[in-house]
Amino acid sequence: MENLDWGKLPFGYIKTDYNIRCTFKDGKWGELEVSDSEYLPIHIAATGLHYGQEAFEGLKAYRGKDGKIRLFRWIENAKRLHRSAEGILMAPVPEKLFEEAILKVVKLNERFVPPYGTGASLYLRPVLFGTGAEVGVKPASEYTFIVFATPVGPYFKEGFNPVKIAIVKDSDRAAPLGTGTLKVGGNYAASLRGVVETHHKGYSSPMYLDAKEKKYIDEIGAANFFGIKDNCYITPESTSILPSITNMSLLTLAEDLGIKAIRRPIPVEELDTFEEVGACGTAAVISPIGEIADLETGKVYKFCKDGRPGPVSTKLYETLVAIQYGDIPDPHGWVTIV
Ligand code: PLP
Ligand code: COI
Repeated sequence: MENLDWGKLPFGYIKTDYNIRCTFKDGKWGELEVSDSEYLPIHIAATGLHYGQEAFEGLKAYRGKDGKIRLFRWIENAKRLHRSAEGILMAPVPEKLFEEAILKVVKLNERFVPPYGTGASLYLRPVLFGTGAEVGVKPASEYTFIVFATPVGPYFKEGFNPVKIAIVKDSDRAAPLGTGTLKVGGNYAASLRGVVETHHKGYSSPMYLDAKEKKYIDEIGAANFFGIKDNCYITPESTSILPSITNMSLLTLAEDLGIKAIRRPIPVEELDTFEEVGACGTAAVISPIGEIADLETGKVYKFCKDGRPGPVSTKLYETLVAIQYGDIPDPHGWVTIV
């Protein structure tokens, strides 16, 4: 791909050669189909359009120094899509079908897997939605599963440099017993006001608190939150956040590095006590946070006072990325070579 500037790729959509599709009809999944079209015909009464029967995933393919392409913990994405599907009564995608589709989409678009050393990767977007027609509020009987691929750079333009976050209290992305733990489109629709409002004010992302009391930290836009203090990695326990595969991996890597890993509710005021804080996710990787502003009270929590990411976040970032790109051994068996 001689005309792509790999080192300067944004986190955006670029057309690749092929995508994979599969449909669920008459109670069963059909064969995988390869398409070179970016469009699909869809019934005007599809439940995915009207009632939000839609869930997606996000994972990356990384090119190593050895030229090999690696996927990171795809089984966890398959399981999470299964949970999302069950949560909003869609036909789940069998793990084998998910595996075949993601491996195929990487192989077919191999020329779009960014070269090693550019910091970029090939982002895979599996998406499942109701394509059967219904007008009453009920689950569809037909579903479509698609996986497309697009090369991406860092989610936050800062890359591995401190970002500014704003606490949003005038909208919620998910209710305590709602769909926050599922990766369904409706959660992202609910977050758009917060995302746009905070961008306009010069912040990279909104931070959401628990919807009921606005007392505890939930998550940061499309990433989980973590804080570091007293040699502990602490991340929120909540019924309304997405269980991040990156966060789950960092909890393990922290323990490997001799750092205690804890999941528990985190009151907002505790931000005053953290030595380092960050956002983590497939797109965000680890984004160190330099500032968290409460837009309502005007209080600002500051971190990275020398302008640089903290030592624990840096060590975790380097270890995670080194495993993903195959620079160091993969002690937990997280990586699949395509
Ligand atoms: N939280 C939300 C709301 C997300 O959209 C994502 C992205 O997938 C994450 C957290 C991070 O999850 P993961 O590390 O599995 O990508
Ligand atoms: C991801 O980290 O994969 C995400 O889903 C983030 C966002 C682009 C929705």
